[in-house]
Amino acid sequence: MAHLAVCGGEKTRREPFHGWPVFGEEERRAVLDVLESGQWGGVEQRVVPRFEEQFAAFQQCEYAVSVTNGTAALEIAIRALGISFGDEVILPPYTFIASATAVVLNNAIPVFADIHPDTFCLDPEKIEAAITPQTKAIMAVHIGGMPCDMDAILQVAERHGLFVIEDCAQAHGAEWAGQRVGSIGHVGAFSFQSSKNMTAGEGGLIVTNDRDIFEKCWSIHNVGRIPGGQWYQHRNIGSNYRMTEWQAAVLLAQLPRVPAQMKRREENAAYLAEKLNQVPGVSCQVRPKPVTSHAWHLFIFKVDPKAFGDLPKSRIVEAISAEGIPVSGGYVPLYREKLFTGIQPGSCPFACRHVKREVDYTTVSCPVCEELCDNRLMWLHQSVLLGTKSDMDSIVEAVAKVQKYHGELVDR
Ligand SMILES: Cc1ncc(COP(=O)(O)O)c(C=O)c1O
Repeated sequence: MAHLAVCGGEKTRREPFHGWPVFGEEERRAVLDVLESGQWGGVEQRVVPRFEEQFAAFQQCEYAVSVTNGTAALEIAIRALGISFGDEVILPPYTFIASATAVVLNNAIPVFADIHPDTFCLDPEKIEAAITPQTKAIMAVHIGGMPCDMDAILQVAERHGLFVIEDCAQAHGAEWAGQRVGSIGHVGAFSFQSSKNMTAGEGGLIVTNDRDIFEKCWSIHNVGRIPGGQWYQHRNIGSNYRMTEWQAAVLLAQLPRVPAQMKRREENAAYLAEKLNQVPGVSCQVRPKPVTSHAWHLFIFKVDPKAFGDLPKSRIVEAISAEGIPVSGGYVPLYREKLFTGIQPGSCPFACRHVKREVDYTTVSCPVCEELCDNRLMWLHQSVLLGTKSDMDSIVEAVAKVQKYHGELVDR
């Protein structure tokens, strides 16, 4: 008789995991307050500035500009740094597509550097080889809420006079050496999209400690107006990326709940990692000492295919999922996406006259990322970590069961 659920055996778990989003009376009151105020837009400036101020303080930053979503936050941040035609931005291929398209939408070129095999973040040792005279910035993506090695990244950036953009979309509250992400580089971008650790369904925010960058971001997000300027005074080319009062109200109501949620995720992630690391062929994301807070947007772990009968990763993910565990196989290396491999010769911005070399993503190779994506990495969503110790036990039980009985998958 089969043991694995995917082969007809008994499921490890039938109950759902912790739900997301989490909300309560606070959000209900906040949304009603906006409704009854009659001031709903992003220019009404009742709740939006309060949220910006409190979130900036939460991330230990001086300035914040709230925007429509995390993708826009990255696009605006890059534009505010003056990055444009022919410029290059170095980033990891293991991230959400918006990290890269935000560069392209500013007419600049994303240059992919490999990730670290244990942290799954941009490997600082791979950055220097990717630098050219056109490089303007490094984008540190704090993947799954794990802060990048910001000491090493800042050192490379300083040596070469580069900006550091932090993609903090998955890293609310994360900290490198006691310093919150977004406050370490020149500018940081957050997302409040539905899955994120803070959410208003959609939403984004830019943080910086640099007054000039703040003013540029503010202007771009508000159709070129300037802070303290007139309504019909447009100094720069911008668009309307303003966050609404609804979004700000929901996020402001959520903020006091975040520290307790972070603590719960940290506790459950530590427990889960300790147990999962004992399953043959399973190892969890390694946390460097200076990571004083991990946001755990994703709990990422890797499998050694040898311990699973050299089965394709997709079969292992399918088998764990069938046990009732919401596991995902995650990203593919971004440069393999059609938008990069299918670039038409001569198309802008990849082949404009400012670009000094041929850009051909079909020749890019980041072997660590490829091996991890193809054969090893899988993840669980942050909301799972808001559950109980017994929820964590059921995850371990399911993964261990799939490892133990992987032979059933081979014969299937
Ligand atoms: C790493 C990363 N960057 C950028 C984004 C873009 O954020 P949004 O979905 O709010 O546009 C996301 C979110 O999906 C993300 O995970």
